[in-house]
Amino acid sequence: MNAHTKIPDFQMDLHKNPVPEAERNRLMESLGFGKVFTDHMITIRWTAEEGWHDAKVTARKPLEIDPASAVLHYAQEIFEGMKAYRADDGRILLFRPEQNARRFNLSAERMAMPTMPEELFVKAVETLVSVDKAWVPSGDASLYLRPFMFANEAFLGVRPSNEYLFCIIASPVGAYFKGGSKAVTLWVETHFTRAANGGTGAAKCGGNYAASLVAQAEAYKHQCDQVVFLDAAEHRYIEELGGMNVFFVMTDGTIVTPPLKGTILPGITRSSVIDLARDRGMKVEERPYTFEEWQKDATSGRLQECFACGTAAVLAGIGTVKHEGGEFKIGHGETGDFTTALREQLVGIQKGASNDERGWSHVVSL
Ligand code: PLP
Ligand code: COI
Repeated sequence: MNAHTKIPDFQMDLHKNPVPEAERNRLMESLGFGKVFTDHMITIRWTAEEGWHDAKVTARKPLEIDPASAVLHYAQEIFEGMKAYRADDGRILLFRPEQNARRFNLSAERMAMPTMPEELFVKAVETLVSVDKAWVPSGDASLYLRPFMFANEAFLGVRPSNEYLFCIIASPVGAYFKGGSKAVTLWVETHFTRAANGGTGAAKCGGNYAASLVAQAEAYKHQCDQVVFLDAAEHRYIEELGGMNVFFVMTDGTIVTPPLKGTILPGITRSSVIDLARDRGMKVEERPYTFEEWQKDATSGRLQECFACGTAAVLAGIGTVKHEGGEFKIGHGETGDFTTALREQLVGIQKGASNDERGWSHVVSL
């Protein structure tokens, strides 16, 4: 579909009764993930006739949609996940937001939805961050931003919708995992798969997550934090976790991560980690890696450490892996030194404290 190139101005209809400062501070004292929301939201409509229009900042409020709205029936929906960070000098920074804009459009194309000019996507994100800047926490916490778009035509025929609503909501967040930086435990799913060749695995569409929940529930049942999916064709190759990519760090300085073949999400953290690891002289191999190799390398000691990565979790060490046939540990079952060092470097760049050689940080004009 065409990207309508006109960039609309935002109509500002600000909240009449925003959360008072004392209450906001109280809410921000003990943040989990995705439970507290800011005062405002962004909405932009798209129709075949008008393209992107009716861009607004309003109070965050429930959406009114027709019960025949296509998204409720056929799940034509995509989203993004990104964060705004408060630097020690008070600036507010986004991390590679143009990459989220680009991926959003790739997801849109896969789901037969309209694309959005990257400039409009970034402007919308910056506008919300600027309006809700008081909600950007300092320290280790950040403001998680959730842009999303859904089919909003009241029509039950199965075809791409002619109307869409784009929204952004924001949520101040702390650590994604309850244990903070403690190594996580994974459940390897050997029955259900997440994405097949030719499917929607590389798109960030809600349906992928809906299909993953039965396996995530299984992971919780086994006291695991996240699920690891294997490939759909042979149930042998590691793909990714429910909401993160995965890396295997070997003792010989090689790092292995599953390749982008259309079945996993091309993570922005994944791509950043590859660049930073190469800077450190590591050899990064994007190649198929089987569950069998994983067990063998963990047992032989060739595998030094493993980590999961994504916007929400940043880098999380993987300590224990459980599966139907038993369980094994990675190293001593704790977050490894390489994972910790890379996490610190990445968080440093995101928060404007470390050298940002590649210009990944984007300062929000307030
Ligand atoms: N894989 C999945 C399934 C995800 O949901 C995410 C999170 O967005 C990632 C990987 C990591 O992507 P990113 O690093 O761009 O957040
Ligand atoms: C993210 O890291 O942004 C994700 O989307 C992961 C999860 C919260 C869905």
